Amino acid sequence: MPDKSKETRRALVAGGHGLLARTLRVSLTSSGWEVFAPSHAELDITDEGAVQRAFGGFRPHFVINCASTSNVDSCEREPEWAFSVNELGPRLLARACNKAGAEMVHTSTDYVFEGAKQGFYTQEDEPRPQSVYGKSKLAGELAVREEAARFYIIRTSWLFGVGGGNFGSKVFEHARRIKPLLCVADQTSIPTYAPDLARRIEEIIALGGHGLYHGTNTGVGTWYEFAKMALELAGIEDVEIEPVSRAELKGIAPRPGNSAMRCLLSEKVGLAPLRHWRDTVPEFVREVQTASGAF
Ligand SMILES: NC(=O)c1ccc[n+]([C@@H]2O[C@H](COP(=O)([O-])OP(=O)(O)OC[C@H]3O[C@@H](n4cnc5c(N)ncnc54)[C@H](OP(=O)(O)O)[C@@H]3O)[C@@H](O)[C@H]2O)c1
Repeated sequence: MPDKSKETRRALVAGGHGLLARTLRVSLTSSGWEVFAPSHAELDITDEGAVQRAFGGFRPHFVINCASTSNVDSCEREPEWAFSVNELGPRLLARACNKAGAEMVHTSTDYVFEGAKQGFYTQEDEPRPQSVYGKSKLAGELAVREEAARFYIIRTSWLFGVGGGNFGSKVFEHARRIKPLLCVADQTSIPTYAPDLARRIEEIIALGGHGLYHGTNTGVGTWYEFAKMALELAGIEDVEIEPVSRAELKGIAPRPGNSAMRCLLSEKVGLAPLRHWRDTVPEFVREVQTASGAF
């Protein structure tokens, strides 16, 4: 009899060319996993036939859904698209997981919260999303709960890393182009470093406690504080950083004023809190320097 416990674990990482997916591919592969991380063009999660083909060909033990609409304002303009990617897509993946006996890991967001709370949101707080992005991500969580027998839903916040698309990831590009660099100083959450979250996801899966997690670094910050620190560490002194309010940037979608989260379930299963977000920034700056040669 072949020893099943020795079988290489296979993970299908949907949205495979995004920030978290690329980071996960590296960390899971180095832990001995076999990873298939198709791009959007290779696997559209809203296409049921394509999902079935991906499962049939690869026979994953785990599906990690990192596919998502990243632009919060675009979601506000195109709600049908947002719900298709963020609700229908995870539903189809979860359904396919059930059929194949695979486990589902689904990533979600702090934007499911309204943002009026002083202090940390936990799993006991009722989500009350204000934006189409937040509503569609919450609908995706519910779809996974409905369809998947064994699931992990992992909400994260302000995910940044080399090659990512959000403000933190692109802070050096913005600093080159936008003078002065306008940074939001009245919205708080927890910048979360993609490699830390990738490791945390692996730890959660290893422990096997299904449920809803909040996967973030610790500490609370603003993008203004983040940008100041990153630019200082990089030795960039000739860029003026101007604190602005979120309202001044005139985005279409409402954002939560404060969406910092804490994870009750990680604490219960014995996972120590991740490091402070400020402790991750020097590593991020070094990685950007290595990736780009210089600034
Ligand atoms: N970034 C943040 O600040 C943040 C904060 C909180 C939570 N999250 C959550 O964390 C997870 C990972 O975020 P991320 O920043 O790594 O995302 P990302 O870099 O924006 O990557 C998302 C990927 O999904 C792909 N995609 C979009 N529609 C798809 C579809 N129909 N089928 C297959 N792939 C599709 C995109 O491809 P194309 O670009 O080619 O369309 C992109 O490569 C998401 O669930 C997100 O909601 C992110």
